[in-house]
Amino acid sequence: MAQVRLDKFISERTEYTRSRIKELAAKGRITVDGAVVKRSDTKIDPDTAEVIVEGKSLRTERYRYILLNKPQGYVCSTDEKDGEIVLKLIPPELRTKGMFPAGRLDKDSMGALLLTDDGEIAHRMLSPRHHIPKIYIVQLARPFENNYINKFEKGIELIDGETCLPARVCAVENCEKLAFIELHEGKYHQVRRMFAALGNHVELLMRVSLGGLVLPEKLAIGQCMELLHKDVENLFLPNDFEAFCKRFSAVFSANLINN
Ligand code: URA
Repeated sequence: MAQVRLDKFISERTEYTRSRIKELAAKGRITVDGAVVKRSDTKIDPDTAEVIVEGKSLRTERYRYILLNKPQGYVCSTDEKDGEIVLKLIPPELRTKGMFPAGRLDKDSMGALLLTDDGEIAHRMLSPRHHIPKIYIVQLARPFENNYINKFEKGIELIDGETCLPARVCAVENCEKLAFIELHEGKYHQVRRMFAALGNHVELLMRVSLGGLVLPEKLAIGQCMELLHKDVENLFLPNDFEAFCKRFSAVFSANLINN
């Protein structure tokens, strides 16, 4: 493979500018295959070089996958005109040029959001053919009612007359205003509108799983982590909703309430 300049290699994979890369190299903060490289115009083999910038490896894998525990107040957009964008929460060494949020959470919602530069996986994720089920935990304004279970299973009719696909809900034990919901589709503000149709109101909402990919307990709100391609494949695995609710009730109700 033809050799490329180190600064080109790094700037194509991160948000570092060439002038910043030059500075970092001069300060000895960049290594290639274990050796400090002080000149950013050094030529490297892009296929084999192990480049580390400020202690972070820029793996030679083609795509990047970041799981963010989105806080409230950020928008799932790449356009800063829309408000504070979620990409701002990704450190520059993890961000890549073409990175975008694969899917949406409302500005006021929290929880699992995948950001990637892999258009193919985003397409697979968002395609209705794959039906990636998503689980949310909500805090309601009024107590959960057991009759919700049947109503969700039959398909809620929203206030504007639109009908939802069957969905599942499950109350969180000993917390009368908390519930888990599993959806197989993604209409605009869907969870909020479903509970509004039942005369309730969602006060807090956190997405806690995307298919078989569960928001890690240790990932605090506002933090992100890099996923390997093989972990991303968990998205396409099923999740057992009842087992999930039992296993994660305590963890996610605490995360939601203490956000
Ligand atoms: N449903 C909503 O109402 N909001 C979200 O952010 C996600 C699902």
